[in-house]
Amino acid sequence: MTAQTIRDLLPSAAGRTVIVRSDLNVPLDNGKVTDDGRIRASLPVITDLAQAGAKVIVLAHLGRPNGTVDPQYSLAPVAQRMTELTDSDVMLAKDVTGTSAQTQASQLKDGQILLVENVRFDARETSKDDSERAALAKEFAALAGPDGAYVNDAFGAVHRKHTSVYDIATLLPSYQGALVATELDVLDRLIAEPARPYTVVLGGSKVSDKLAVIDNLLDRADTLLIGGGMAFTFLKALGHDVASSLLEEDQIPIVQDYLRRSGAGAAKIVVPTDVVVAEAFSADAAHAVVDVDAMTTGPGGSDALGLDIGPESAKIYAQHIEASSTVFWNGPMGVFEMENFAGGTRAVAQALTNVKGLSVVGGGDSAAAVRVLGFADEDYGHISTGGGASLEYLEGKDLPGIGALAR
Ligand code: 3PG
Repeated sequence: MTAQTIRDLLPSAAGRTVIVRSDLNVPLDNGKVTDDGRIRASLPVITDLAQAGAKVIVLAHLGRPNGTVDPQYSLAPVAQRMTELTDSDVMLAKDVTGTSAQTQASQLKDGQILLVENVRFDARETSKDDSERAALAKEFAALAGPDGAYVNDAFGAVHRKHTSVYDIATLLPSYQGALVATELDVLDRLIAEPARPYTVVLGGSKVSDKLAVIDNLLDRADTLLIGGGMAFTFLKALGHDVASSLLEEDQIPIVQDYLRRSGAGAAKIVVPTDVVVAEAFSADAAHAVVDVDAMTTGPGGSDALGLDIGPESAKIYAQHIEASSTVFWNGPMGVFEMENFAGGTRAVAQALTNVKGLSVVGGGDSAAAVRVLGFADEDYGHISTGGGASLEYLEGKDLPGIGALAR
């Protein structure tokens, strides 16, 4: 069964309470939102419903507070940013389903928007126990009342079997949000006959997070460019001494198998030829560009940390990217938050803007990186709001939040 969409709901939304699950998990610094991309991407569905006369209750998480109320994970800065970006005063309940949420939900007027506090303040949201999640789902549904409806527009969280993503859909008439629909459309273009050459750029710190997607992409993409912390496990698997750089020793046999498959006709795996090594993990640490077989000779010697791909590698990666008709990028090439180690990520971000075909930036970190480095959303074919979610979709996994809407 295919899911009903927000378009099916809008005509009957007036006067009803609609619960919208959004992914508003944004980076904060000193209580201020530093990248509001996910908020902007989530607002169209929320404001369309409000303008259609619905009373809108938004459910969202921020960070991983592990089921306890922790003020540093409060959605207050998010509510404030939503208020700034809309013409409405977005209210924030002090709790998830407690007296504050209940009272404010019952007093909502048509067209008003209420955000309840971080759903992960309630341990049942992420519980592995079905009955605990079911109990919280009932409390969410009660906020909406007998004529309520549910919209899942939280693409970045659809891979989580959590109450507000999965269980609630069994209790209310449920609809797919426009953001989820757009994200799936774009990712489907990467899966079904992508225009070739098809290049995938993978970075980020942990190779273990990316193993399944590499496995899958080896048979689908033409080239895999490897950067970020995970590149050092590849370099080690190829016999290089990576000094004290991030290394997942236990993943080396799997990586060696991928390299073997690559050599035997699967996608070409490209690893850095040079890296930026630093004496310490800090913005002003002494650093140098070294060849990948000379990492221990940089500042710090055998304690050196590789914190970015080097300029020669960045140039090679950019050439691959610019010669491609389809490019998917997930994960920074280095510690882009520190200027000395941002060069690789900047080069990749820049090269993606020159792609003639479809360029997709996937994921929280890479999306934040392009904005922090001064690129505009319009420079890319699509900036996905989902990191883990887009990877799991490309891996071919069933995503709980998608499946729940099609029941
Ligand atoms: C994300 O940041 O990728 C999503 O908001 C999901 O967050 P999570 O990985 O903490 O579930």
